Amino acid sequence: MEPIKVYLLQLFTLFLAVAVLSSATALESAERSSFIIHMDHSLMPLVFSNQEQWYLNAMSNLKSMNHPNPHRHQSQPKLLYTYRHAIHGFSAMLSTNELEYLKKLPGFLSAYKDKVGTLDTTYTYKFLQLNHADGLWPASDFGNDVIVGVIDTGVWPESPSYRDGGMPKVPSRWKGRCAGGDSEDFNSSLCNKKLIGVRYFYQGILAANGGNGEQNKFTARDGKGHGTHISSIIAGNYVKQASFFGYGTGTARGIAPKARLAIYKVSWEEQDPYESDVVAGIDQALADGVDIISLSLGFSGASLYEDPVAIASFSAMQQNVFVSCSAGNDGEFGIGSLHNGIPWSLTVAASSTDRRFCGTLCLGNGVNLNGWTLFPARAVIKDSPLIYNKSISACFPVELLDKLSGGIVICNVSKFSAFLAQMSSVSKSRVKAAIFVSSDPQIFEEASFEYPGVVISPSDAAQVIKYALTSYQPSASIQFQKTCLHSKRAPGVASYSSRGPAPSFPQILKPDLMAPGTQVLAAWNPTKPVASIGFNIQLSSDFNLASGTSMACPHVSGVAALLKGAHPEWSPAAIRSAMVTTANPLDNTGNPIQDIGFNNTIATPLSMGAGEVSPNSALNPGLIYNATTEDYINLLCSTNYTWKQIKIITRSNYSCSNASSDMNYPSFIALYNNTTKNVLKQRFQRTVTNVGNGAAIYKAQVTAPKGSAVTVYPEILVFGKKYEEQSYVLTIQYNANQNKTITFGSIVWVEVDGKHIVRSPIAVAPMIEVCCG
Ligand SMILES: *[C@@H]1O[C@H](CO)[C@@H](O)[C@H](O)[C@H]1NC(C)=O
Ligand SMILES: *[C@@H]1O[C@H](CO)[C@@H](O)[C@H](O)[C@H]1NC(C)=O
Ligand SMILES: *[C@@H]1O[C@H](CO)[C@@H](O)[C@H](O)[C@H]1NC(C)=O
Ligand SMILES: *[C@@H]1O[C@H](CO)[C@@H](O)[C@H](O)[C@H]1NC(C)=O
Ligand SMILES: *[C@@H]1O[C@H](CO)[C@@H](O)[C@H](O)[C@H]1NC(C)=O
Ligand SMILES: *[C@@H]1O[C@H](CO)[C@@H](O)[C@H](O)[C@H]1NC(C)=O
Ligand SMILES: *[C@@H]1O[C@H](CO)[C@@H](O)[C@H](O)[C@H]1NC(C)=O
Ligand SMILES: *[C@@H]1O[C@H](CO)[C@@H](O)[C@H](O)[C@H]1NC(C)=O
Ligand SMILES: *[C@@H]1O[C@H](CO)[C@@H](O)[C@H](O)[C@H]1NC(C)=O
Ligand SMILES: *[C@@H]1O[C@H](CO)[C@@H](O)[C@H](O)[C@H]1NC(C)=O
Ligand SMILES: *[C@@H]1O[C@H](CO)[C@@H](O)[C@H](O)[C@H]1NC(C)=O
Repeated sequence: MEPIKVYLLQLFTLFLAVAVLSSATALESAERSSFIIHMDHSLMPLVFSNQEQWYLNAMSNLKSMNHPNPHRHQSQPKLLYTYRHAIHGFSAMLSTNELEYLKKLPGFLSAYKDKVGTLDTTYTYKFLQLNHADGLWPASDFGNDVIVGVIDTGVWPESPSYRDGGMPKVPSRWKGRCAGGDSEDFNSSLCNKKLIGVRYFYQGILAANGGNGEQNKFTARDGKGHGTHISSIIAGNYVKQASFFGYGTGTARGIAPKARLAIYKVSWEEQDPYESDVVAGIDQALADGVDIISLSLGFSGASLYEDPVAIASFSAMQQNVFVSCSAGNDGEFGIGSLHNGIPWSLTVAASSTDRRFCGTLCLGNGVNLNGWTLFPARAVIKDSPLIYNKSISACFPVELLDKLSGGIVICNVSKFSAFLAQMSSVSKSRVKAAIFVSSDPQIFEEASFEYPGVVISPSDAAQVIKYALTSYQPSASIQFQKTCLHSKRAPGVASYSSRGPAPSFPQILKPDLMAPGTQVLAAWNPTKPVASIGFNIQLSSDFNLASGTSMACPHVSGVAALLKGAHPEWSPAAIRSAMVTTANPLDNTGNPIQDIGFNNTIATPLSMGAGEVSPNSALNPGLIYNATTEDYINLLCSTNYTWKQIKIITRSNYSCSNASSDMNYPSFIALYNNTTKNVLKQRFQRTVTNVGNGAAIYKAQVTAPKGSAVTVYPEILVFGKKYEEQSYVLTIQYNANQNKTITFGSIVWVEVDGKHIVRSPIAVAPMIEVCCG
């Protein structure tokens, strides 16, 4: 049997609790808080030989401003980090007076308080689903020598996913280090040819917690499991017989099994990540020479010029580093709930997969049904009485259930919340097992099973109830730890996945695409309980199921690593374009992908972007929509941002002579926000590069959004050779007033006598309340 470790809760200790406790000294520094300060490097006085000297000098001037108090220790302003690559500037603990002083320095651009971001996992439940052996991810050996930087909660280095069997030596261009901290907790010998770099950043969280903490307790070890899960999804090595307590058993592997991992821990146990630490992690990753950055976290509600992910990933893009980020898990708030809607990065939504974890329900009359379950043990419920009583079918409260003499009870579930209450009362009762009747998708996305039971659909329930009510001594058995494949209508947009348009930049269609995020099996912190049986038995495992856009993003980071390995010459925009234009808008029934969060109606591009990522097709996309740094600057110039705000992002002397709100993006969105009956018209210009081998002819196929008219000129593009570029203009005519509806279509460039199909989604959507400039 697979290695399951059982811990009793009372004996369970978390030996890696981080000592960031506030104490009396917090009073002193309460007057100060941490700020991110953006500076113009070109204005550094010549007396300083580097930026750090410049900032330290400014900080020491601040210290002499403070009147020393001889009677007690007085806290001082403190430099947290100097940033060189991700942004230009630093972070520091400052009082408002001290900040006012800094604002007068030459080269000062802006300062704002350190922000807290969110890790994009659905916290409700950790019981999630494996997805590795899926058709969408062929077991590819690409990704060799591509280095992926993961900015998250650290790593559990002993996990078998980080073994380096079969890995060639570390690329010589790698400049990073294995600096995981205290050698007893994170010995540098734990790094190898798979796990090539490890760093950790805690100045921001330490400052936020009063500035004191036992610094030697900080290490890069993952106390949560989140970062371990993400990095093993991207590039975990092969691990045989991996499973979640017998569910999804198989050989686990990352999307790019030969890629290298560099881990930057910026998020600490029990707390959300601080911007100052996140920027420090990205800064180091860029200095170390990563090729891809994977960010399963985000800062909601920030303008691009105050969003650390946006600013740092601009710098990454300029250095040819591809950045993939999660869209967020705020799907319940509907459209406009997305974060990381950054024009120069890729934003990933989450989908379901076609794998379900199940148990077999065998009725006494010989009928067998599959039900959904995750009960974490090899238990069998055998020939027990089957009980259905309409007046207790709510299975709540316990007293009602305790009137029954054991057996398997049938519970009618209304919603996910009711399911949790029923599971709890069933667990406390004398009932042996439960059959829950429900089709609420949230149960399949997030449920845990601490008591034996299965969830069956209302249509299957009809015959089970009929049997229970009409037979003499009805009985049933349940077997657990089954895995059911090929479930129909997959992928679907996960209900938790955040929806576009992007509040910080609605003019670019976000999310870009979708990848599996629901119940993904990957490595975890093996000391952390991930399942329970009843109320006393806590279970932990080397592998865990987790759901969220956090799990979707690393799939795409892995695909990007494969593409980078196959096409080292491609720019980040080319890699993005290849994935977007080949994404699949259809599910496994050949029909349009549905949105689980919107009653299984057809998903719009605001939920899933272009569709589900399709790695094999992305390797050979035919045409790409490329972009240069200037294109993004021209886009920024079209906003009402101030010169300083744009400079914070670009960190360079730029000119706004070619401002344009239209850039060469592989998708289209037209926004309306008018109560008039006007017809609006938006014109888009695009240039595509032929990356196929040799001459090719493409013909446009347009599906206009309902109620809109779309024209394309020219309708045929002729390419004489590889890397030739051709341009076209697409115009959308649409109504100004569509009463909050989202309509959508596509333009597909179909190769004549060839196999390439280059598809871009077109969306017409309401302008959302602008959150942030
Ligand atoms: C770190 O690992 C090396 C090599 O395995 C070993 O010699 C050393 O004792 C370890 N240090 C600690 C503090 O465990
Ligand atoms: C159903 O449950 C109710 C309430 O506990 C009880 O009064 C009734 O006798 C039960 N019906 C059957 C058929 O057991
Ligand atoms: C379950 O409850 C719903 C409404 O709450 C009701 O319409 C349905 O008939 C019930 N099903 C069973 C099998 O009791
Ligand atoms: C895309 O643009 C970049 C930057 O101008 C360039 O280096 C690259 O060769 C172009 N083409 C591809 C396929 O990336
Ligand atoms: C889904 O359908 C239910 C009942 O038909 C309705 O109450 C709910 O508002 C719908 N939800 C969405 C997101 O359309
Ligand atoms: C920045 O650009 C302006 C005009 O566009 C020019 O006057 C100035 O010298 C430039 N500064 C640097 C440092 O290149
Ligand atoms: C603006 O566009 C023109 C024409 O394409 C080009 O020559 C010029 O260099 C561009 N200026 C900037 C600042 O990008
Ligand atoms: C709203 O209508 C006005 C006048 O008809 C037009 O100028 C403006 O661009 C429209 N706004 C949007 C967001 O479409
Ligand atoms: C817009 O939709 C709402 C809800 O569907 C409806 O009540 C309202 O009448 C509609 N307004 C217009 C102008 O169509
Ligand atoms: C429409 O746009 C204006 C500014 O152009 C903005 O103030 C307003 O909030 C928008 N209304 C809606 C409903 O998005
Ligand atoms: C830009 O416009 C938005 C809303 O239209 C506003 O909230 C924001 O303050 C403006 N920014 C600047 C720098 O003027």
